[in-house]
Amino acid sequence: MKYKYLRPTRESDIDYVLNLEQNPENAEHVDQWSRSHHISSLSNPDFGHHIIKSESGERLGYLITRELAPSRCLKIQRIVVESKGRGTGSAALREIANVASNRSDIVHLILYVRGGDIGLIKFYRTLGFDISNDEQLDRPGYTLLTMDV
Ligand SMILES: CC(C)(COP(=O)(O)OP(=O)(O)OC[C@H]1O[C@@H](n2cnc3c(N)ncnc32)[C@H](O)[C@@H]1OP(=O)(O)O)[C@@H](O)C(=O)NCCC(=O)NCCS
Repeated sequence: MKYKYLRPTRESDIDYVLNLEQNPENAEHVDQWSRSHHISSLSNPDFGHHIIKSESGERLGYLITRELAPSRCLKIQRIVVESKGRGTGSAALREIANVASNRSDIVHLILYVRGGDIGLIKFYRTLGFDISNDEQLDRPGYTLLTMDV
């Protein structure tokens, strides 16, 4: 399937990714990776490191997925969008969900929201995620959200 809003991140995008990740408005919601951690994930088959882009190719953010093979889950490791509230994050997550639904080895998407951020949880709910409890997946201090695909 051809992606519309996502393309693979290149090493030349890592400054862009780090700037977004470290921006204080985003840093309070997402974990921080070093440059070398981002670069090593580009060639790690367990990770999908994507630039979110407009149809004309302009960079709008980034999205990282991680395969959790034994549990047949695809984790949304991180999503950050530059200009918020314009439908970009929704479009990127719908695209990932659509791709995952065409894969027989993936049955759930999962993600973690720091604390219990009501706005973020509402955002993910509108996309089809729901709050979930799972002994093996629960992380203290985070809310686990899952979606069947
Ligand atoms: C969360 C994020 C990826 C959402 O992407 P986005 O492009 O801003 O979201 P969309 O425009 O597709 O949002 C769709 C709706 O959800 C709402 N929404 C999105 N994020 C929200 C938030 N954090 N709090 C409250 N509402 C939110 C939007 O306002 C919009 O509402 P509307 O349809 O009534 O206008 C983006 O806001 C972001 O990068 N935030 C900082 C990093 C972050 O929090 N990442 C997720 C960590 S779990």
